[in-house]
Amino acid sequence: MSAAMTDIAVAAVILAAGKGVRMKSARPKVLHEIGGRTMIAQVIETARALAPQRMALVIGDHSPELTAFAGALDASIAIAVQAPPKGTAHAVEQALPALDGFSGAVLVVYADTPLVREETLRALASEIAGGATAAVLGFTPDDPGGYGRLKLDANGELVAIVEAKDADPDELAIDLCNSGVMAIEADFLTRRLKDIDNKNAKGEFYLTDIIALARAGGKRCVVIETDDEEEVIGVNSRSDLAEAEAAFQWRKRFAAMEDGATLADPSTVYFSFDTAVGKDVVIGQHVVFGPGVSIADGVEIKPFCHVEGASVAKGAVIGPFARLRPGAEIGADARVGNFVEVKKAVIGADAKANHLSYIGDAEIGAGANIGAGTITCNYDGHAKHKTVIGANAFIGSNSALVAPVTIAAGAYVGSGSVITRDVDAGDLAVARGRQTAIKGWAARFRKTRKGKS
Ligand code: UD1
Ligand code: MG
Repeated sequence: MSAAMTDIAVAAVILAAGKGVRMKSARPKVLHEIGGRTMIAQVIETARALAPQRMALVIGDHSPELTAFAGALDASIAIAVQAPPKGTAHAVEQALPALDGFSGAVLVVYADTPLVREETLRALASEIAGGATAAVLGFTPDDPGGYGRLKLDANGELVAIVEAKDADPDELAIDLCNSGVMAIEADFLTRRLKDIDNKNAKGEFYLTDIIALARAGGKRCVVIETDDEEEVIGVNSRSDLAEAEAAFQWRKRFAAMEDGATLADPSTVYFSFDTAVGKDVVIGQHVVFGPGVSIADGVEIKPFCHVEGASVAKGAVIGPFARLRPGAEIGADARVGNFVEVKKAVIGADAKANHLSYIGDAEIGAGANIGAGTITCNYDGHAKHKTVIGANAFIGSNSALVAPVTIAAGAYVGSGSVITRDVDAGDLAVARGRQTAIKGWAARFRKTRKGKS
């Protein structure tokens, strides 16, 4: 993909007024997620990376959820409502007030095409900087199906976009298709959009007609073709959503490996949009990262872990079969082993919780040892309470720490204790039934049972 590197002011118009009925969902289509982030947020962030001078989002009026989403966006994004939707040109028309006085390249992107790349948008804008009136992102799908076809002249310049429903057999035979993503010179767009009519098979105002209008006025239109078909996946159904998710996951896997992480079996590691993975991180098979995770250099995540809203510092070893929930902060070189769940808890450097524990609403000091089966009893049915464990404390196996409670630095808790009161530094707390032995009881018991069922 080559492009003139001239700088140009950019505006972004994001279209999201369609109904997305094929998702068969109560939730509006563009609020479905890819990599833990809604498609619409993904597209907004991609556009934002170009530092656009103006941004506009076009939505319908049929979804209170989408209206609420738009309402919560920051003021740099103008919200335009298109109701009822009458086509993509009509949608862009609703955004024109937000473009008032703007000159430069207007990028039109679809909120249901979540994987379009920042570099591609830049390349399209650069074509406008280079003198083109419109630049369209094209691709050659295996099955051109219902996509608009891109008609080129002998010089390879774009002459028109013909929607599949309006195409003649020759046009249908064209395999270069419209992704829907395009850049249009702002002045031309604002002056001529109103000249687009709806005399076509669908009776809609097609933005794609802007190309023929430009050509009729002697203007130059171009196609940038992407060879990454995944970039232009348009999500219309749940299977499209799954396909886009898979493509997104491979992007993240390659990025993590590129940045110096080892993935034992990349196809089984799942990332979120914001997962940050350091260098020399080793990630085993079947690991899932929810949103909000950062993994520092040299960490090992063994197989079958679920990690979400958590940070793991340098050199720590997690898993196998560990669950880090939101607010888990694992210190450098700490160990969190199998069947350990950590929620909203700081685990100090070099501390260990290796087996079968729940650590929630807690602070564990450096070098502390949390024995197998230790549970922080953080919830009393009404509120959450905190457990504080000092540096180098030792919690014996199968202890219940009833919060709020503090175990001071260096203290010991005997195995099987239920701790309800604070333990002072250097003390041993034992809170369990004292062991008694009844001499010979077992032997006597067996004798009395002999011969009876
Ligand atoms: C559109 C293109 C087609 C291209 C295809 C790629 C037009 C006329 N056709 O067709 O050339 O191959 O995308 O996927 O542009 N939208 C609105 N308001 C409307 C209509 C649509 O906001 O009135 C939004 C939709 O929410 C969606 C996008 O525009 O995000 C595309 O609309 P859609 O109806 O899916 O267009 P296609 O028929 O797929
Ligand atoms: Mg579509």
